[in-house]
Amino acid sequence: MVEKSYIVELENVWRIYEQGRRRIEALKDISIRIPAGKLVIIKGPSGSGKTTILNIMGGLDQPSSGRVFFQEKELKDYSEQELTVLRRKKIGFVFQTYGLIQSFTAYENVELPLRINHYRWRERRDRVNKCLDLVGLSKRADHRIFELSGGEQQRVGVARALVNEPELILADEPTGELDYKMSMEIMKLFRKLVHEHKVSICMVTHDPAVMEYGDIIYEMVDGKIISEGVIK
Ligand SMILES: Nc1ncnc2c1ncn2[C@@H]1O[C@H](COP(=O)(O)OP(=O)(O)OP(=O)(O)O)[C@@H](O)[C@H]1O
Ligand SMILES: [Mg+2]
Repeated sequence: MVEKSYIVELENVWRIYEQGRRRIEALKDISIRIPAGKLVIIKGPSGSGKTTILNIMGGLDQPSSGRVFFQEKELKDYSEQELTVLRRKKIGFVFQTYGLIQSFTAYENVELPLRINHYRWRERRDRVNKCLDLVGLSKRADHRIFELSGGEQQRVGVARALVNEPELILADEPTGELDYKMSMEIMKLFRKLVHEHKVSICMVTHDPAVMEYGDIIYEMVDGKIISEGVIK
């Protein structure tokens, strides 16, 4: 397969929420490109539009106007079936609120995307164990989510995003609940995924401690990208 130079591109994207007479411009004319095989960090304060931009990149939400491309094909030209493949296999989401099933164990949560994709149990077992190991949670595999700390839950969310071996990981504040040491572990894991497994990652955060791990840093304020910095 020819490697695509950009995995996601947004072109003049606006996202406007209308509630009665109130109108919130969450994204204002955003144009941004996420190169394949890079770790891109979008930083910005609370309410600046970070979750909104990730949802649009992953096809979970549509822009009010503007265009979104995934692997150089516009999302509006994807069939329903192609969009399903995109969300289920090509993209791994790490949600700000984890999105885990509380009554399931860590293992079962990570296994769920594989069940949805009809993998056989042996393949499921091998992949789930590998991913839990990667995030340092092998010993917690059989704990239910409500028995885990915030940081452990966040790591279950990362393991679940990895289990389908996606081409792109979209991560919303993946270090938000973690202490400094654990945050650095997650960032090292992200670097490793980018370098050794050729995964592309776009994460949003307001944590200044993680910036040095990014290849490209975008700064977002009030629905706009105000700066771009290339680290390496
Ligand atoms: N469903 C919605 N309806 C109306 N307004 C919304 C909705 N979702 C988000 N917004 C508004 O859009 C703006 C951007 O929200 P968003 O969730 O993208 O911010 P964020 O940068 O992710 O913030 P945080 O760091 O707190 O998670 C905010 O002003 C928010 O209030
Ligand atoms: Mg958010």
